[in-house]
Amino acid sequence: MTTEIDTINSQRKMLSEAGYAEPAISYFIEKKYMGHLQDASQISEKVGSCGDIMKIYLKVDDQDIIKDVRYEITGCAGAISAAMAVVDLIKGQPLDKALTINDGDVFKRLENIPEKKHHCIQLAVKTMHQGVEEYQAARAH
Ligand code: FES
Repeated sequence: MTTEIDTINSQRKMLSEAGYAEPAISYFIEKKYMGHLQDASQISEKVGSCGDIMKIYLKVDDQDIIKDVRYEITGCAGAISAAMAVVDLIKGQPLDKALTINDGDVFKRLENIPEKKHHCIQLAVKTMHQGVEEYQAARAH
């Protein structure tokens, strides 16, 4: 009988063999920021060049601090691990700081993912920047 632990262990092994470092694998397995926020201040969506889709939910307080974030993702392991890392980089930070987060910061957090998956990091970062910018634009009116 295959248990949940066996499935997770075989996923870990496959991802590790494919070139994902331990932090990236844990982000993918735990998916701790996957889902939606009922009381989001901003919801934005982006489609990657690969056709994958990311939706970001941002909860922002009146001091422009990002209180909470979730992603809904139709995409690969690289996309999921990158998006989860983005949340750890921006949660509790001011909006302007979130706009300075780039692909390199996310890659550092993941430690490594396969080279052909680097565009997945870009999609996670671009979706977040779009969410922040759309929130700021809506507030400016
Ligand atoms: Fe589309 Fe990874 S292959 S985001």
